[in-house]
Amino acid sequence: MTRPRSLVTGAAGFIGSHLCQRLVVEGHAVIGLDCFTDYYPRAAKEANLAPLRAHPDFAFVEANLLTADLTGLLRNVDFAFHLAAQAGVRGSWGAQFEAYVANNVLATQRILEAARAGGGRLRRLVYASSSSIYGDAPELPLGEEATPRPVSPYGVTKLAGEHLCTLYWRSQGVPTVALRYFTVYGPRQRPDMAFHRFVRSLLRGEPVTIFGDGEQTRDFTFVADAVEATLLALGEGLAGQVFNVGGGSRVSVNAALAILEELTGKRAVRDHRPSEQGDMRHTTAAVERAGAILRFAPRVGIREGLEAQLAWQARALGA
Ligand code: NAD
Ligand code: UGA
Repeated sequence: MTRPRSLVTGAAGFIGSHLCQRLVVEGHAVIGLDCFTDYYPRAAKEANLAPLRAHPDFAFVEANLLTADLTGLLRNVDFAFHLAAQAGVRGSWGAQFEAYVANNVLATQRILEAARAGGGRLRRLVYASSSSIYGDAPELPLGEEATPRPVSPYGVTKLAGEHLCTLYWRSQGVPTVALRYFTVYGPRQRPDMAFHRFVRSLLRGEPVTIFGDGEQTRDFTFVADAVEATLLALGEGLAGQVFNVGGGSRVSVNAALAILEELTGKRAVRDHRPSEQGDMRHTTAAVERAGAILRFAPRVGIREGLEAQLAWQARALGA
């Protein structure tokens, strides 16, 4: 078989850069696309890309999905992984919403239109959806059939993108699969996310901010597990489907911070702030569908995953 060609949007980001590295290991020729939005510094994203830049099977395109000629790009690939987005739950209120609509809804629609026009080579378009589409559902675990009721504007835009994907499958035949990732962590985690902030504060001896009582829980997912599930989404017969991707490590924010204290040997000075609007209280992924159909089972537990993130961040901070 000829070597598969894949396009990854958001390739300079946290999850996208790991996915590109895995794809080249799996023998794909990879085109990574990113426009380096200023949500966090370009230097961090350049560092994410550094191991890929020299790889002979990786080509980078600096372009914005809102303006790029996507039809040309989509015509020449077998698989597309659409991870580019304006991420971040708590910052999605107010004037920022415009960036969320543009990068999460309009950009997704442009990709889907390009895929539709692409001429039939594309075998799968994987969309990075989010546990934030659920909101505060009355029952845990969160099953794919639960009625989505996002509690953040970010969640609303991720759900809109997901609905667009299933719509373009049903009515236009674009072979989409949506993966609802649950709070992903590990090396290269975005600097606005909890563990990144906790580790940075611990290593610098600064106070650790905790929103609310810290007893909120997340089904934290190690990034290599999220990437594994993403590859499994390329299987035959999956078009139009939606899957939870959870890490199987449901712990509270307080419990995760306690593990980080142990691993760093430092005691955190806790700075409790009011709960942030848009934060879900608990997330737990129902795992049956991804287990039965994708054969996905997360491998990395919270302690091992936090060790890996800590090692990376200590190196990155020169600590
Ligand atoms: P990230 O911010 O590190 O990566 C996203 C990348 O997309 C950035 O490098 C950004 O520059 C790029 N981008 C944004 N808009 C663009 C545009 N218009 N054109 C080109 N590039 C653009 O975020 P991440 O944490 O790696 O998240 C990746 C995806 O996974 C996102 O779709 C996010 O919504 C989803 N997701 C993430 C998590 C998580 O816990 N990190 C959980 C659920 C879902
Ligand atoms: C994460 C990602 O940031 C989103 O992009 C993604 O879509 C979402 O997961 C998802 O699973 O869908 P979140 O769960 O808020 O969102 O992840 P963190 O930023 O790591 O926050 C986890 C918890 O820690 C939240 O309850 C938050 O309020 C809390 N937190 C965060 C703090 O207590 N202190 C902080 O400094 C940061």
